[in-house]
Amino acid sequence: MKRLENKTVFITGGLSGIGKACAIMAAMEGANVAAVDLKSADTDAAMAAIKKHNPKAIFIECNVADFGQVAAAVEKTVSTFGTLEVALNNAGIGGKPNKVGDMAEQEWLTVINVNLNGVFNCMKHQLVQMAKQKSGVIVNMSSILGKVGFATSSHYAAAKHGVIGLTQTAALEYAAEGIRINAICPGFIDTPLLAKGGITNHPEVAQHIVGLHPMKRLGSADEIANGFFFLACDESSFMTGSALEIDGGYLAI
Ligand SMILES: NC(=O)c1ccc[n+]([C@@H]2O[C@H](COP(=O)([O-])OP(=O)(O)OC[C@H]3O[C@@H](n4cnc5c(N)ncnc54)[C@H](O)[C@@H]3O)[C@@H](O)[C@H]2O)c1
Repeated sequence: MKRLENKTVFITGGLSGIGKACAIMAAMEGANVAAVDLKSADTDAAMAAIKKHNPKAIFIECNVADFGQVAAAVEKTVSTFGTLEVALNNAGIGGKPNKVGDMAEQEWLTVINVNLNGVFNCMKHQLVQMAKQKSGVIVNMSSILGKVGFATSSHYAAAKHGVIGLTQTAALEYAAEGIRINAICPGFIDTPLLAKGGITNHPEVAQHIVGLHPMKRLGSADEIANGFFFLACDESSFMTGSALEIDGGYLAI
């Protein structure tokens, strides 16, 4: 039996890395996927990989930092599929590393606008629909850096800590309305984000980052998709307001 048969699953950043792995898993489990992302050279190939498992999947071009574009993306999803059962607010960027005193205001704002305001923009519109339905599941992508600091990533860590606060608060507000809201805190996962951030394409940096995980390896996007799938399904029916660590032991040290 497919576990997300005919359910609508809205995934931001659904065309790369973790989001793409989650979109493929949801489509394999029968979901109608709305992959919400910026347009890039990889858009067609990523959509083909998702549609292979469920041809009903749609791409919606959207910058999550833009309130109006997010409103339109949620509206388009509901007008296409009729409902919104699951949302994964996952789109994110690493930002340029710098110490707080050396960080330009615009660098700070860019990361906060995408990684924190983007999650609020999505939840605001998703919750209006889910409240009408009196059901729904939201999963927000935080990070291990939503629980601890990381030198030169204050913008990223502040946004990811904020995502957990937003998750917990909304979970309280909607717990009695049949809507569950949780976060995931991945360790370092081998995706294009880490290459863009100068980690996986620099062997000595990669080795240092790997060494921060007691399991002595990076995680895979599929390992995070497994966590997303669990939170999206009824197996996690008594979970709300949690921040699930999938981190190879990073936070246990
Ligand atoms: N890779 C890691 O080590 C790691 C660890 C912890 C948390 N995360 C989080 O997981 C999420 C996914 O990261 P990933 O590693 O898969 O990265 P990725 O770069 O592979 O994918 C990110 C996706 O988000 C999209 N995106 C970026 N800005 C956007 C915007 N303004 N509007 C819409 N879409 C936008 C990109 O186009 C891309 O498809 C991010 O929130 C990231 O912070 C990643």
